[in-house]
Amino acid sequence: MKKIIFLVAMSLYGRAFCQVNIVPMPAEVNLHTGEFTITPSTKIIVEGTNLEKTAEYFNTYLKKNYGFVLAVQKNGPEANSIFLNYDKLNDAIKGAYNMEISKSHININGDNEEGVFYGMQSLLQLLPAKKSNALAVPQLSIKDYPRFGYRGVHLDVSRHFFTVEEIKRYIDYLATYKFNTFHWHLTDDQGWRIEIKKYPLLTSVGAYRNGTIIGRYPGTGNDNKHYGGFYTQAQIKDVVKYAADRYIDVIPEIEMPGHASAAIAAYPQLSCFPDEDTEVPKGTVWNGPTKGKQVQQTFGVFNDVFAPTDYTFNFLQDVIDEVITLFPSKYIHIGGDECPKENWKRSAFCQQLIKENNLKDEHGLQSYFIQHMEKYINSKGKKIIGWDEILEGGLAPNATVMSWRGEEGGIAAAKDKHDVIMTPGGWCYFDHSQSKYEDSVTIGGYLPIDKVYGYEPIPASLSADEDKYVLGAQANVWTEYIGNEKKLEYMLFPRLTALAEVLWTPKEKRSWPDFEKRLPGIFKKLDFLHINYSPAYYNLQANILPANNNNGIMAALKSNVKAALIKYTLEPGTATKTYGQPIPINKNVKKIVAYSVVNGKKTPAIIQSISINEATGKKITLASPPSSSYSGNGPFTLVDGIQNQKGLQRSNELLGFNGNDLEAVIDLGKTTPIHEMSLHVVQQPGSWVYPPASVSFYTSSDGENFTLLQTVTNSSTAQNIVFSTQMAASAKYVKVWAKNAGIIPSGKEGAGNPAWLFADEIEIK
Ligand code: ACM
Repeated sequence: MKKIIFLVAMSLYGRAFCQVNIVPMPAEVNLHTGEFTITPSTKIIVEGTNLEKTAEYFNTYLKKNYGFVLAVQKNGPEANSIFLNYDKLNDAIKGAYNMEISKSHININGDNEEGVFYGMQSLLQLLPAKKSNALAVPQLSIKDYPRFGYRGVHLDVSRHFFTVEEIKRYIDYLATYKFNTFHWHLTDDQGWRIEIKKYPLLTSVGAYRNGTIIGRYPGTGNDNKHYGGFYTQAQIKDVVKYAADRYIDVIPEIEMPGHASAAIAAYPQLSCFPDEDTEVPKGTVWNGPTKGKQVQQTFGVFNDVFAPTDYTFNFLQDVIDEVITLFPSKYIHIGGDECPKENWKRSAFCQQLIKENNLKDEHGLQSYFIQHMEKYINSKGKKIIGWDEILEGGLAPNATVMSWRGEEGGIAAAKDKHDVIMTPGGWCYFDHSQSKYEDSVTIGGYLPIDKVYGYEPIPASLSADEDKYVLGAQANVWTEYIGNEKKLEYMLFPRLTALAEVLWTPKEKRSWPDFEKRLPGIFKKLDFLHINYSPAYYNLQANILPANNNNGIMAALKSNVKAALIKYTLEPGTATKTYGQPIPINKNVKKIVAYSVVNGKKTPAIIQSISINEATGKKITLASPPSSSYSGNGPFTLVDGIQNQKGLQRSNELLGFNGNDLEAVIDLGKTTPIHEMSLHVVQQPGSWVYPPASVSFYTSSDGENFTLLQTVTNSSTAQNIVFSTQMAASAKYVKVWAKNAGIIPSGKEGAGNPAWLFADEIEIK
């Protein structure tokens, strides 16, 4: 008997999940039989106060997508009506609601205004993805509430500018998926985007650049186009109101003390060295004058940062004074990330300031800077948020930390009883590629939708008591390589829907298999709404795996389309075969070419070059792990037969070590004659990625006692570099020890910071 009840319950549950495609999935859904149909004669009855704007939102959506609106009334008959009202739910986090869809009417009862708005969003998601005058929705009961109080999405409008209309559409995407915070990154090296009346040059000069690099940093040229734009204060107020009507708090970011080139171009006195020309990074093709201070035309991190002078502090305080009149948010984000200390080191004024204030060093000066601004912002009744670098040199007393370089900053801040917003690069950076074979230019990384969905904002290492400091999480959308709205949508979707569920749905209810079942419906809705998205989920995926017993490698091909027929060719051979199981790749294979056929149509082919050697697929261990943000496919990445050719654009092919050495031991399985050992690395100084200072190669017969064969250096300036040595040896084990370049020296990009070491492959021949 019990078993039968269980099966019935399971089938109802399954039905509810398949038919109720609401994202994020509500806390509780009970699906009933039958439908309610919204037609032009249906009424919206606004019973609770202040709910007219929610009714208006509903009508705007109906008008735009279905071509009709509903009458909005204060009262009316029960039949054929949608009632908006309140219920006392007493939820700790704002936004809970109950929704009841019966045969005759719909009730949406929120704990508060937000709750009613979210209930209405859920109802909109139930509407069919097809234009009609009769919109049937299933009869059901929903009890719903958010898991986290901070559900954020960020947008960088400095690298590329987005118009007020585009920002409003962006805010609507956030509202659709029940996000409640828009982090507006308004200032950076490539453009200052907010009107400040006291400092008009910030926008007349700082909002425009004379050109932009073409392609990925350092670029293949310059587009030579005058580019820019800014928001007037009236436009900012309009956007803030638009967002508030959708229960979205707008947090402005005014970046300091780094990423200040645009402000400095407008007011050179903000620099430690007002008379020095703006740096043009090596390899950048510049357009227009290079004399004096210029708005940046390329991307990265620049040494010309704010000088911690009275002039700068007064300037920033004046800016903040105007900013707080525009943004009702209790937070002002003051940036704080990626501030090179080079100029502070060279500046007699800064060195004197360090001495006078008994600061330890330039990190102490950064903390002094942030604490000065925090005190001012606190005195205006606001709190600061800063990127996790604000932990360095001492955290400002009331600061909220945004953890972006992994989870560590967030963990440290929560343990120190500071509020935290999690935005770790490996899970929350929507500027990363969604596919390993992404065609369009991106910043790199590899963040597919299932990885976003699997993100857990509460780090496992926090105690139950510390969990409460994690307010929530946020997607960051940096726009170096996102130059228009369609690309912005492509980078945002479908990942935004996954993060929405991470932040809203109860943890125990979050289920990737269930979400995956709902994805076709999500795509259908996005199509209906004319929103662009990445089709990466449906692309053929190739994974190179170690073969059994570390005996070489295999290629596993996978499509999320059940009916897809997968075909492949192992070149230089010419035979095309149908894929069944992982394919053993022998040493003659140079290339795997694969595609799938769906409904008779070929999907774009994957072409993967392979280079097999004695190390390929062998057991590899690392003395210390790579950074969690650049951990590729684990240590196997270094022996997977894939040599990187596109640098950080394909960072999933690399392991990244921040300040640390790479020390790898490979077990070749048997004593093997060796005549060459190599380590392949990537160099990209603009991203603080430097080749190792040296690479040492060792052999061993027992895996414990190693003999040093040679230590080599390489001063090539190429993007892909091979450190190599030749010998006549034989060994069962080899060790490769790449010494990190260490703290980046003065005069080089990223000076003063630990260098990144990125490696893609170890070859033994
Ligand atoms: C950041 O991504 N630089 C915060």
